[in-house]
Amino acid sequence: MIDQPTVDRIIDAAQIVDVVSEFVSLKKRGVNYVGLCPFHDDKTPSFYVSPAKNLCKCFACGKGGSAVHFVMEHEQLTYPEALRWLANKYHIEIKERELSNAEKQAQNDRESLFVVNEFAKDYFINILNNHIDGKSIGMSYLRNRGMRDDIIKKFQIGYSTLTHDAIAKEAISKGYKKEFLIKTGICYEKEDGSLRDRFWGRIIFPVHTVTGKVVAFGGRVLNSDAKTAKYVNSPESEIYHKSNELYGIYFAKQSIIKQNKCFLVEGYMDVISMHQSGIENVVASSGTSLTPGQIKLLHRFTENITLLYDGDAAGIKASIRGIDMLLAEGLNIKVLLLPNNEDPDSFSKKHSSSEFQRYIAEHEENFIMFKTQLLLNDAKDDPIKRAALIADLARSIGLIPNDIVRYACLKECASILNVDERVIMNEIKKHVEQRNDKLIEDAFKQKNGGNIPSIDDNSKTEEVQAAAANIANEIQYQSYIPEVEREKLLFYQKEQMLIQTLIRHGEKVMCIIDTEETKEYPMTVIEYIASDLKQDDIQFHNPIHRKVLSEACSHLHDNGFICERYFLAHPDPEISRLAADMLSSRYQLSKYHAKSQKIVEDEERLFELVPHLITDFKFAILQEEMKHTLQALGKPEVVSDAEKSIKIMEHYKELSEIQKEMAKRAGDRVVLKA
Ligand code: UTP
Ligand code: MN
Repeated sequence: MIDQPTVDRIIDAAQIVDVVSEFVSLKKRGVNYVGLCPFHDDKTPSFYVSPAKNLCKCFACGKGGSAVHFVMEHEQLTYPEALRWLANKYHIEIKERELSNAEKQAQNDRESLFVVNEFAKDYFINILNNHIDGKSIGMSYLRNRGMRDDIIKKFQIGYSTLTHDAIAKEAISKGYKKEFLIKTGICYEKEDGSLRDRFWGRIIFPVHTVTGKVVAFGGRVLNSDAKTAKYVNSPESEIYHKSNELYGIYFAKQSIIKQNKCFLVEGYMDVISMHQSGIENVVASSGTSLTPGQIKLLHRFTENITLLYDGDAAGIKASIRGIDMLLAEGLNIKVLLLPNNEDPDSFSKKHSSSEFQRYIAEHEENFIMFKTQLLLNDAKDDPIKRAALIADLARSIGLIPNDIVRYACLKECASILNVDERVIMNEIKKHVEQRNDKLIEDAFKQKNGGNIPSIDDNSKTEEVQAAAANIANEIQYQSYIPEVEREKLLFYQKEQMLIQTLIRHGEKVMCIIDTEETKEYPMTVIEYIASDLKQDDIQFHNPIHRKVLSEACSHLHDNGFICERYFLAHPDPEISRLAADMLSSRYQLSKYHAKSQKIVEDEERLFELVPHLITDFKFAILQEEMKHTLQALGKPEVVSDAEKSIKIMEHYKELSEIQKEMAKRAGDRVVLKA
């Protein structure tokens, strides 16, 4: 671990223009610098670097932040790795924090496993290139399959001879410990205590993490023979969790970012062949279905994924199940079907790179449409099968988090199936409602400490019931496409504006207030926000925001505490990234500026800005809750239950009272300028 003073020195030393210039050619424009964004396929310079703020940002794709963020993003490093990278650039000596013994042990173990894997990788490469068997058997096999030398080298492919303990012997003689040879799975121990190699007589494919470290190997036999497994793979270990890795991600990441798209294929050979034909944004799930960890990993780079299937229908149907998970993550999934039993490997061998690219462009299909067609062919005119098909599709469509995308899908599906949109819509509604119910419930729980508020009622009037039925009707007729999403945006936006003000100005005194203890107490922005929210028992929705507020409160009285500085250098990269985002101008408060005709710096009017933002925020929360309450009123089980309806109506009334009260209070509040 790097100690805090060293972290501070690194951050102070890292000049944004200097760091970005290592990768992007910058031109001066006014007080800033501009260049082509390295994170997307930029045609006109959209990447701005501000020496004054020491931040960078792409105004097209939004990527950027501090020098540390830039290095993290560009080199795909973790936060500590990026700090080390910068320390190296600026020749800053790293002072390590004392690790506990347990931490040391764990770190040593992990590092030893990486070291052993690195050794094994080099060993296998050396055998392939220099050993007589490697050259005559391994290399000629690869050449026969049409693999180019530069590709063999790039993917660090190797070979293991037929001897059963060759690498074991070599490793031990070089001083590598038995323990780590076993833990990495390169060797295993026989009953008599001797070591045996896991891989022999196989082509070796190293598996790299996103940062290029070797965590595992796959070994392919050369002669297909039903008795031996085609591939032998490294077992799980402290450094290898199969379900979190994707083969090829290290070689693909830059291209995925540039193309904003990733191809997903089945095997090692598919990834390698596609690279050879010039398509580099490709990874493999290595024969198993995708896991949530792998999806998260991909989602870091792009939202657009195209699955490449060979033409075998049975295989496709089996793999379709797993795809719903991708939809729920908000990814855009397309499918590409290759002609009669070709896989990407064989297809790329028969066609030129441009033919392959053209084939992709012409045959890629939206996943849902693809699924619709596929299932429709099965169902034909069978009404029961068709009903099941609609339910199945509705579930998939309902998982799409984005309103617009979901609606577009729905329309297209309805037209393919030749049914009224409403038929599918009603099905989706069921799924969406189930999901929303849970969301609403969670929101209530969070706000009310686990209790859904109870209101005493003893008056059941027909009037209330009629009103409830009316609202229910209205909601029925509204398209299900919920405004909830949009409203949430508003509410998050308000929360974000408050956090932005806190990060920019938190430690500044915004007003003078008479408290019970002290007369004329100079109150900081942090204190004001914290006490005001507490008074109404409100918390930020986003856990990171909650953490920012609570840390701001506890560090406020530290010597020389400055919010901006503190959060920008925060060891939690999520927080430091948030700070950088908030300091660059994505959420400008300019509409408040416009009010008074002239531009006034936020800093000079904190005394009015902050209360204003807080009121806005509270209003947004209240509004969302009122909306949810209304929606609850429209549910069939509520409509038919007078008691429930009344309770909900009462709650709604209560909320609108609060809203009125709040509006009044907002007008009353007078704070004096500091
Ligand atoms: P494939 O059989 O398609 O292998 O399995 P491949 O990589 O395309 O190799 P070639 O073209 O036949 O030489 C796809 C993936 O499934 C995993 C491997 O990750 C492989 O790349 N697999 C397959 C195994 O792990 N073990 C096996 O026995 C077979
Ligand atoms: Mn294959």
